[in-house]
Amino acid sequence: MEIYKLQQLLSEMSLQEKIGQMVQLTGAYFDKDAVLTGVVGEQLPPEWIIRYAGSVLGVIGKEKIYDIQSKYMEQHPHHIPLIFMADVIHGCRTIFPIPLGQACSFHPELVSEAASIAASEASSEGLKATFSPMIDVSRDPRWGRMMESFGEDPYMNGIMGKAMVDGYQQKSDQGVAACLKHFAGYGAVNAGREYNDVEISQRTFLEQYVKPFCMALKAKPAMVMTAFHAIDRKPISGNKKLLRELLRDKEGFDGTVISDWGSIGQLVEQGVAADMEEAAVQAAEAGVDIDMMSPAYMFWLEKLVENGKIPESFIDESAFRVLIMKNQLGLFENPFAGLGKSEKLTPYHRAKAYELTSESCVLLKNEKILPLCQKQRVIWAGPYVTSKEFLSRWSIFGEHEAVETIEDILQKKQIKAECIPGCRMLSDEECKIWQVEPERFDEPGNERWLETITGDDTVVCVLGEHESQSGEAASRAFLTLPEEQQLFFERIAKRTRNIVTVVITGRPLDLRRISEKSRAVIMAWRPGTMGAEAVVDIVYGRTNPSGKLAVSIPWCVGQVPVSYWDIKTGHIYDADHPENRFSSRYMDIPNTPLYPFGFGLSYTEFNISDIEVQAGPDKRVHVHCKVSNTGKVAGAEVVQCYYETLCSSVVRPRKELVRFQRVFLEPGEKKTVDFSIDREEFSYYDENMEIVCSQMKLRISIGNSSDHEWGNSVIFV
Ligand code: BGC
Repeated sequence: MEIYKLQQLLSEMSLQEKIGQMVQLTGAYFDKDAVLTGVVGEQLPPEWIIRYAGSVLGVIGKEKIYDIQSKYMEQHPHHIPLIFMADVIHGCRTIFPIPLGQACSFHPELVSEAASIAASEASSEGLKATFSPMIDVSRDPRWGRMMESFGEDPYMNGIMGKAMVDGYQQKSDQGVAACLKHFAGYGAVNAGREYNDVEISQRTFLEQYVKPFCMALKAKPAMVMTAFHAIDRKPISGNKKLLRELLRDKEGFDGTVISDWGSIGQLVEQGVAADMEEAAVQAAEAGVDIDMMSPAYMFWLEKLVENGKIPESFIDESAFRVLIMKNQLGLFENPFAGLGKSEKLTPYHRAKAYELTSESCVLLKNEKILPLCQKQRVIWAGPYVTSKEFLSRWSIFGEHEAVETIEDILQKKQIKAECIPGCRMLSDEECKIWQVEPERFDEPGNERWLETITGDDTVVCVLGEHESQSGEAASRAFLTLPEEQQLFFERIAKRTRNIVTVVITGRPLDLRRISEKSRAVIMAWRPGTMGAEAVVDIVYGRTNPSGKLAVSIPWCVGQVPVSYWDIKTGHIYDADHPENRFSSRYMDIPNTPLYPFGFGLSYTEFNISDIEVQAGPDKRVHVHCKVSNTGKVAGAEVVQCYYETLCSSVVRPRKELVRFQRVFLEPGEKKTVDFSIDREEFSYYDENMEIVCSQMKLRISIGNSSDHEWGNSVIFV
């Protein structure tokens, strides 16, 4: 519809109709099977809101949505369509690896393709907007939502966020609106505890946590979601400075700002609004266009406009943005756009999921044991061998029936192997207890089986967290495997050294003991629908692992938050002088994580050479290098370019990622990699919060992990 027609429509709408566009209701008011992703208050919405609410959350299904949409539009005075939204986080029906795993592929093009598949499956079942991508830089694995992010690095979150937005909105014929979340800084929740507050300096907030948003906004996402917490003690859902001044005026965002579930109402709980009326005023003044599931807008906006406490122009602006979003999705022309247009879980969708899962697995250790030979005696052990629990709590529409188990795959591929679960998964209830006593471990069957293992046998242990141990509201204080699995592993380790451990998890775990006693470790994250096949193929060398860590794996939980970009300190620890007590270190553990950001092994070897770094007259930095495969099998290496600011007026990080390129190489093949970086990308805030983007002395390095450089140069730009 032309924009003038949309304006005309707005001018004809009543105040209640306009407020309706600013309210999002859970699908529970429309469909008894709607998925609930939050708590619904006891107070029922006013009757008119159910008739006019502009969007619905958590309903899916072709027939259902057809029915709800038809009835809604028929009774709506201007026949404005609803928009159905939901959390399609890492796939809709075909489930891709969790975003944290996707980031480990260092392959934004493939991540984008996965998002476009998710969009077409979602759209086909009536969803026209997803609350994804989440680009909260996250460095504390106690936080359960780390799985939803692209890890610890701001640049990575920005690149992957942008790729996903493109995938959802542009790449698919059946595009859906994307939503960047949670603006901003939610990954820094204190102590990794969900819904907790954030204490952060303005500089770190802008340089590290807002940066991915600025990058991903370039893809023009339809929506941005506010976070629950406060920045400098001002909750974001009522924060005019952050939403109107920073997000809209400075960063130029002209899409729809949506609150998080109930976050406007929570301004009262946070103690910054005396009551719901005041909460509504603050959020409207801050420019929040849609109130997701709080009573504030639905009960108060109308009165606030009528008594002049907020201008009607605020309502017009917000309602208009929602109408524009609906218009961009083509809903005015066809309110059923996309319905039934795509099949789910097609062979193509599965193939792409397989590809992305393979690329997201990170080989952390390999003492000449992998790949395994199909002819040797191999025992696959652990609860994940016969389980379909490869999805996550954020794959709310994922279908476990579509997942094959490792045992199924081994049989299908006619690989001779014994499969012994050996111990249980935790139950949902047990996930809530810090330590669960191992129960059935001493079953006689297990004992007998353990006794058959000899030192010549190879055991692939597939261990990990339960699906509900990560995701929203799944913060953990301990990062260990369930006790029962750990003990099971130890018993196997007493009988053979030939252990390959595959870890299924939504976050980095404390893997120290597992890693010490395994000859190989594969981090498979929560791998999605095609997880089992991807894992089996890596173990037997049908695919060559190429993932690199998008997040550090801590040595133990006492180290968190730990990340490669730590701010420089004095009292630098010098590994050559461990006797120096007065250095920045732990007395009892190393400073470095068990496995650092950017790290990941392959079945082949690579060499990086011919590194050249030049500051061009075009105010750009040009980096050039060659990468070659010096091993015997084809594989992909990720060339990583980092920088360090030398001599600045404020203390800066030790290292920051500024570019990466994944390069596939046949054995013996050599390719050139060139990066061209605008000098503004190295800019930072000085002591007066003024941006510095010239006269910078930089050390640029090229490596294949944050802790391994192939070369570096110092330049001035
Ligand atoms: C989460 C959001 C999510 C929303 C809707 C909230 O509790 O924080 O990320 O999009 O619920 O499900």
